[in-house]
Amino acid sequence: AKVNINSSESKSISDLLIGVFFEDLNYAADGGLYAELIQNRDFEYVLSDKEGKDKDWNSRKAWELKGKGASWTIDSISPVHPNNKHYAKLKLESTDAALVSEGFDGIPLKAGDKYNFSLFSKIQEGKGGQVLIRLVDKDGKVCGENTLNCTSANWKKQEIVLTATQTVADAKLEIHPRFQGTVAIDMISLFPQKTFKGRKNGLRADLAQTIADLKPKFMRFPGGCLAHGDGLSNMYRWKNTIGPLEARVPQRNIWDYHQTVGLGYFEYFQFCEDIGALPLPVVAAGVPCQNSNGGQQGGIPMEQMGEYVQEVLDLIEWANGGVNTKWGKIRSESGHPKPFNLKYIGVGNEDMITDVFEERFTMIYKAIKEKYPEITVIGTSGPFLEGTDYEEGWQIADKLGLSMVDEHGYQSVGWYINNQDFYDSYDRNKAKVYLGEYAARAKGGPNLESALAEALHLANIERNGDVVAMTSYAPLLAKEKFTQWNPDMIYFNNTEVKPTVGYYVQQLFGQNAGDTYIPTSLDLSDRSEAVKKRIVVSVVHDKASGDYIVKLVNLLPVSVKTKLDLSSLGQLETKVSYTCLSGQPEDKQLRPVTNSISLSEVMEKEIPAYSFSVLRFKNA
Ligand code: AHR
Repeated sequence: AKVNINSSESKSISDLLIGVFFEDLNYAADGGLYAELIQNRDFEYVLSDKEGKDKDWNSRKAWELKGKGASWTIDSISPVHPNNKHYAKLKLESTDAALVSEGFDGIPLKAGDKYNFSLFSKIQEGKGGQVLIRLVDKDGKVCGENTLNCTSANWKKQEIVLTATQTVADAKLEIHPRFQGTVAIDMISLFPQKTFKGRKNGLRADLAQTIADLKPKFMRFPGGCLAHGDGLSNMYRWKNTIGPLEARVPQRNIWDYHQTVGLGYFEYFQFCEDIGALPLPVVAAGVPCQNSNGGQQGGIPMEQMGEYVQEVLDLIEWANGGVNTKWGKIRSESGHPKPFNLKYIGVGNEDMITDVFEERFTMIYKAIKEKYPEITVIGTSGPFLEGTDYEEGWQIADKLGLSMVDEHGYQSVGWYINNQDFYDSYDRNKAKVYLGEYAARAKGGPNLESALAEALHLANIERNGDVVAMTSYAPLLAKEKFTQWNPDMIYFNNTEVKPTVGYYVQQLFGQNAGDTYIPTSLDLSDRSEAVKKRIVVSVVHDKASGDYIVKLVNLLPVSVKTKLDLSSLGQLETKVSYTCLSGQPEDKQLRPVTNSISLSEVMEKEIPAYSFSVLRFKNA
């Protein structure tokens, strides 16, 4: 193949193309990215979280009492906070018993690492006394311990540090009161000190680093479907997710489990800042999923919409307001006096486009535009599939003159191969596209073939980077044994992180992004459609580094000899960085390999079968 790069016809493209979309699905937050190790720390699990499918899903979930001469109940009289109604009450007639937490399918410990333990307690009968806190392995061997004193008759928080003496994948935590009487306990927490960037109430370091390594330009959160919920009472309300943990409002996760919202808006915004990504929160458009509330069609009653609109405006003030504003002060008191630099806000997600939706969306949109004209409001058109409200979503965007629309496109590998011109015909005078969710579906789950289809799509999106402004693969995270949706980008368990091949495609695009697209043609010796569709090139220039980046996707079962015509790029350095991801289409575990090669070797490079290659050129 002859690759002719024509830098004289270059065009500016979005410099925000690769982002991430985080949704608490597949245990992505609690038991996942959120580093808390104690499941059901607040005894707030309720049967209705699981729609009655798991009779053990209640306030006692993930806890048990061991030993003799004690009993435990769940109580709700005078709780730690009205938003956190339930607590455990231990009646102790001996000093032999312990309340045991199994964590999220076990508690992973690393020898030598320190863990912050805390609880709230109040003595209800007797004088109280010492409480031994122990970490034990599955044979009961102690892997770390410390003590604290519970003597207060009023709720009191105590904090101690435990040091792990062993590396264990599935330890348990035991709370042994060394006194007789009755003690109430709540908000029992165990956090590794080594969170991402050492943040308190922070994120699991290995998972967070894996996301950071994608170099995402933005992060969308908290969903997806999770943002609008499946009824008015299930919408994600940002104000419920900030402030002291015991005062946050936990709720049923639309994905059939429980959200503590310990990973709430402050933590999301802080993570975005920590990884250099713009925050992109998505709020419900005043309607839940399918505009459906308990079988009735409808959204937030119009008489309550003023209050809801204000909640959205307050979010912007909380994120960007000075410390002298009401909500900016609240942010500052949480430990972030500087604004969070919010530029984008999504309103709605894959909604059914009805009058109910349009009326509420329009109210929110107009209020934001009036008070904060500098904020980009992203509308929703949902999936570009037949039978969806995609067209109607775009009609509203046209009518209101939106500047960006979130559309979704989960498709088969074949679709990505056969629809490479998808964005070529998008009207450049209309709203820009945020491809908020997409993934290529291959038989047997994510593999090299699906990853190459995604690379093909992203290469075509770079060519259309004047109309597609942002993209994010979905879903981002999935915990093994708790995976509800496939494919996902990064699988994990309590101790390991397992990025898919598609993760590396995202990373290569993220780390090798540009802001100018340089038209390039391919002269192939075999010009059949089947061949033409399976080999694609994209060339961009990155102003910041001054580098030219050539990406080549080869979905053919044979290697391809290329002849690169680099003459229009000027004088180039003689050493070139060459990264290649290749293997068999069904391979699920591959990593790209980077080498430094000479310019003369690059000019006649043989690109392997089933591969994605990235060449990075520096000007001499
Ligand atoms: O990414 C998973 C789900 O797919 C999202 O929550 C939703 O927006 C879409 O249907």
